[in-house]
Amino acid sequence: MKNQVYIFDTTLRDGEQALPSSLSVDQKIRIARQLARLKVDIIEAGFPISSPGDYRSVNTIAQTVQGPVICGLARAVKKDIETCAQSIKPAQRKRIHTFVGTSAIHAKGQLRKSEDEIFDMVTRSVKLARRLCDDVEFSPMDAGRTDRDFLCRIVETAIACGAHTINIPDTVGYTPPEEFASIIDLLFNRVPNIDKAVISVHCHNDLGMSTANSLTAVAHGARQIECSVNGIGERAGNTALEEVVMGIKVRKDFFKADTGINTKEIMRTSKLVREICNMPVQPNKAIVGSNAFSHSSGIHQDGVLKAKNTYEIMTPRSIGLRENRMNLTSRSGSHMVKSRLVNLGYNEQEIDIDAFYKRFVGLADKKGTVYDDDLIALMESRDSSDLQDEYNLEYLNVSSGTGVIPTATVRIKSRGRLFQEAACGDGAVDAATNAIDRVISYDISVEEFHLDAVTHGREALGRVRIIGSAKEGTFTGTGTSTDIVEASALAYMDIVNKITRMKKFGKKATGR
Ligand code: KIV
Ligand code: ZN
Repeated sequence: MKNQVYIFDTTLRDGEQALPSSLSVDQKIRIARQLARLKVDIIEAGFPISSPGDYRSVNTIAQTVQGPVICGLARAVKKDIETCAQSIKPAQRKRIHTFVGTSAIHAKGQLRKSEDEIFDMVTRSVKLARRLCDDVEFSPMDAGRTDRDFLCRIVETAIACGAHTINIPDTVGYTPPEEFASIIDLLFNRVPNIDKAVISVHCHNDLGMSTANSLTAVAHGARQIECSVNGIGERAGNTALEEVVMGIKVRKDFFKADTGINTKEIMRTSKLVREICNMPVQPNKAIVGSNAFSHSSGIHQDGVLKAKNTYEIMTPRSIGLRENRMNLTSRSGSHMVKSRLVNLGYNEQEIDIDAFYKRFVGLADKKGTVYDDDLIALMESRDSSDLQDEYNLEYLNVSSGTGVIPTATVRIKSRGRLFQEAACGDGAVDAATNAIDRVISYDISVEEFHLDAVTHGREALGRVRIIGSAKEGTFTGTGTSTDIVEASALAYMDIVNKITRMKKFGKKATGR
């Protein structure tokens, strides 16, 4: 494709590192498979040296996910680069992304290194990475605040040592678009070997400028954008993939460029990432927010009824909304349900259809029509980690109402034994969690309680997210059900199980 802008997805690296606790290998693989369906060009799958779990995730993705280049991140040091090379080894197409802070603030303030020492690190690390992998990317971290002459010298050296992609990060989201464009222009004008590399950009959103910066860089010749689904990432996040991809598509006349993204997979990817990462999206979020295609005012509605393009610059269909109106009900067979799950990106071999189908029918009986969002929520709530739960809620009965003292009875199963308790509370949820506390007393204090409807309608699945703290730390628990008290009890049980795992196996075992 002429003038292709490569989409480098860092949801699983920059995005994941900003979550309160890490994703399990299984969760990362599900996201990586969906990114492959979306047709991103490069998946930055993790930072292999950072933990054994991250190494394992990158390595498993390298073994199992086909299509995109699988990339691992490494600091500009020997051990990082060697570990990274090892973890991506099974991939058909692989890349090492190595970086070092080049601004005075980073080099002197954090790394305590002189410009000459940084220069030396770049030379050695890019050469080493090239010996271990044909495809190497180099990032001068905090490029936005790096001395321009030094930046040009560093970029020239990295290319001379074999880097094929030079990524220019606005690490702290500090550089306004015009200034960012001037950096890109400077590199094209001043670095003699610049034609040997693809110029990439990696913009953070601290001042809300990441999409503007990335698109401006494309207009000035950058041909790779680093971004994440829903814009998740450090602090205020990274450039949102969906925004830059649709920006380039909708304004092709202006950018005169294109991406290879299958935009009809955008919405599905966004929802999967919300579910798995437990990161809701604000309703007015560009492209994927629930209001992004709603028209509220009378004037707007009137316009859209007469001619859609009065207030709609892209169709909902172009991002995969309102496609697949195949309604599943309790009359749909397990084959149909399975094929829908496969269609949604789940791996056929990993679907325990008998167990899932029982839960599907339970939901369909309560709800009537089961939509894709319901299926995803049901799949993702089956077990939020690779680890078995110690305690399972077998039974919950709650009575509450006007003039009634809210009371709950719970039955909890653990290792074949049943424990039953009852308790009162200030409301139905309080009574249920008090009853659970009587069985397993971890002294959890509920810091935050969020309830979202996963889909529309009175029988929508409700998802409860509780942030609770105990002496072992702070945990996020989620629960999904058509009954919000049950969803709350399940979310509370999720926290109980995470504390139990933490007590048994330590921090790395908690999952989300
Ligand atoms: O924000 C940043 O500078 C990064 C680098 C590792 C590219 O994430
Ligand atoms: Zn970053």
